[in-house]
Amino acid sequence: MADPAPDSPRRPFNILVSSAGRRVVLARLFRAALAELGLVGEVCAADASPLSAAYTEADRHFLVPRCTDAEFIPELLERCVEHDIHLIVPTIDTELPVFAEARDAFASIGTTIAVSGPTTVGIAQDKQLTHRWLVGAELPTVAQWTAAEAPDDPSVYPLIAKPRLGSSSIGVRTLTSPTDLAPLRSHDYVVEQIAPGHEHTIDVYVNRSGSLITAVPRRRLETRGGEVSKGMTIAHEGLIGLAARVVRSLEDCCGMLNFQCFVDPDTERLAIIELNARFGGGFPLSDAAGAHVPRWMIEDLIGLPSSAGAGGFQDGLVMLRFDDAVFTTRDALGPGVL
Ligand SMILES: Nc1ncnc2c1ncn2[C@@H]1O[C@H](COP(=O)(O)OP(=O)(O)O)[C@@H](O)[C@H]1O
Ligand SMILES: [Mg+2]
Repeated sequence: MADPAPDSPRRPFNILVSSAGRRVVLARLFRAALAELGLVGEVCAADASPLSAAYTEADRHFLVPRCTDAEFIPELLERCVEHDIHLIVPTIDTELPVFAEARDAFASIGTTIAVSGPTTVGIAQDKQLTHRWLVGAELPTVAQWTAAEAPDDPSVYPLIAKPRLGSSSIGVRTLTSPTDLAPLRSHDYVVEQIAPGHEHTIDVYVNRSGSLITAVPRRRLETRGGEVSKGMTIAHEGLIGLAARVVRSLEDCCGMLNFQCFVDPDTERLAIIELNARFGGGFPLSDAAGAHVPRWMIEDLIGLPSSAGAGGFQDGLVMLRFDDAVFTTRDALGPGVL
């Protein structure tokens, strides 16, 4: 994260959750962190559509173009000045490269973006680059090929295929034989060995000085639409140690990251299969277990002593997510939406 502009003592600590979508709990955690710290500030939401739960839930909200649109950054800069935004919290993969490149432009108006630098974001964005990074850093992973180069030998199947630039598990499929691979050969997919065992997401927070503050492994017990719906924290020493190696090998990582790692219960072998340079959807579990990253981020930004302690967390805490709703009206959504 880049340095914020010098602070006025009366400046409110307004936080913007970008591409807010369904991140209601994350928005509430930032609001609670402000209250705990006794800071004046509002949690704002930006989205491309007003039909979004976190957009409706936010204290203030505004519409922006899609993050792939050339007008996204200019428009957001204007809005950050207008709403005096101190911190932007990105939430989706596609906005990370745009934000990583625009950090200085936002810093010059006094807005810090909680995002890693372009190298880390680039690695996380592209599953082929992720694999090259893992191999180069001698971190444990599985074998990977492009769809064009994946093996024809039926004895190495089943394998797993996924879009090189994909997210949210969209397009992920198991290949039972080379016949399943044939239609993907000319597509921008990577093909991997299937990692055995239990899948974990390790939430990692790195402060602005580059220090690893916490690493919380959480086992994925059940997922819905690519996001964890049931999970449990696990104080697995191997995974916590791996997080330190991950952070050391990413030169410009900063803020919130997570990586996904399988643990084979028979051999204890680890295999990292993915890196995300943002808050994961399952982060509320880590927060509930004691990793109060929203609060620590704010403390780091305004130079308060960190309440992070030694980075400990509650082992064996189980999260069972459920559907909830916020309510708005057609009139509040504005003309022409519904
Ligand atoms: N090599 C692999 N072995 C086993 N499961 C995998 C592998 N790669 C992906 N998966 C499964 O597919 C899901 C989505 O893959 P992931 O690499 O995380 O991509 P996405 O960016 O879509 O989240 C993972 O959470 C995991 O359950
Ligand atoms: Mg993933």
